[in-house]
Amino acid sequence: MKVLVTGAAGLIGSHFSQRFGADHDVLALTRKDLDITIQQAVRSLVAAERPSLLVNCAVIQVDESEQNPAKAAAVNVEGARFLAQAAAQFGAEMIQFSTQYAFDGEIIGRAPYTIKDQLSPVNIYGKTKVAAEEAVRAACAQSYIIRTSWVYGSGKDSFLCTVHNDLGSGKRVRAIDDVWSSTTYVEDLIDRCSEILRLRHYGIYQIVNEGVCSYYEFALEAGHLARLNQERLRSLIEVVHERDMQRIAPRPRYTPMRCLLSEEIGLAPMRHWRDALAHYVRS
Ligand SMILES: NC(=O)c1ccc[n+]([C@@H]2O[C@H](COP(=O)([O-])OP(=O)(O)OC[C@H]3O[C@@H](n4cnc5c(N)ncnc54)[C@H](OP(=O)(O)O)[C@@H]3O)[C@@H](O)[C@H]2O)c1
Repeated sequence: MKVLVTGAAGLIGSHFSQRFGADHDVLALTRKDLDITIQQAVRSLVAAERPSLLVNCAVIQVDESEQNPAKAAAVNVEGARFLAQAAAQFGAEMIQFSTQYAFDGEIIGRAPYTIKDQLSPVNIYGKTKVAAEEAVRAACAQSYIIRTSWVYGSGKDSFLCTVHNDLGSGKRVRAIDDVWSSTTYVEDLIDRCSEILRLRHYGIYQIVNEGVCSYYEFALEAGHLARLNQERLRSLIEVVHERDMQRIAPRPRYTPMRCLLSEEIGLAPMRHWRDALAHYVRS
């Protein structure tokens, strides 16, 4: 099948393009190749290429969305809508990635969020992602909304992606101990996307590894996997609180998720985050 991936230089986009490229004809489009905010460019490209599947990985991230809401709306909502309209017009399916930031995360220790829970994003990014879900579903009946959370894998310079290497090479890190979520190994996410595509069951998925952790617990586990002992870890990891980070956008505090739709259609549970992280560190 022909697959068009937008935001293909990003974390999920690059891994998705590489993995799907082994079996499919993938058009991996960076922002320079296709700016999804230009409706005519989106439409012309889809009309010319006639992909069977559009995978939207383009996004304006959390703090930038807070600083520039207009840009966030243009990329996260309107760009997604343009892709969904083009997908519908030319008979393609579409994957739209979404986020645990759809939820407010206010109740620490609560049961994992499901699609039955109320959406109440606490920042601009979350609001645009929720609006995008609605826009994509309205425009394209053959769409998969895939909410995920704290995704990590090779190639991105983010805490979750690099903490094992940083600790392993003796670098000090700061780890937040009062924000928790589900984590997602990007390879597991893509495996699950392949399974979902095979079943062709459209709807809203929440694809994450099992279990919940804080950034601090994630760092500790990564350090153990990098063969550091407890004493060394204590000296390398500085525990901080969310409020100490003075981040531009507020973050929801407790957002583990569970996928009712995967359970309903008989997909196996995702492996536990500790197993997924061990796989990542080993690889
Ligand atoms: N990573 C996570 O932890 C996580 C968690 C939950 C949900 N998600 C969702 O997963 C999806 C992918 O996230 P990610 O983390 O892989 O993102 P990412 O690494 O930040 O990559 C996003 C890409 O989008 C591109 N982009 C920005 N504006 C664009 C435009 N106008 N047209 C085309 N491309 C544009 C960026 O290109 P430039 O760099 O050139 O601007 C960048 O390569 C998003 O929908 C996100 O909401 C991610």
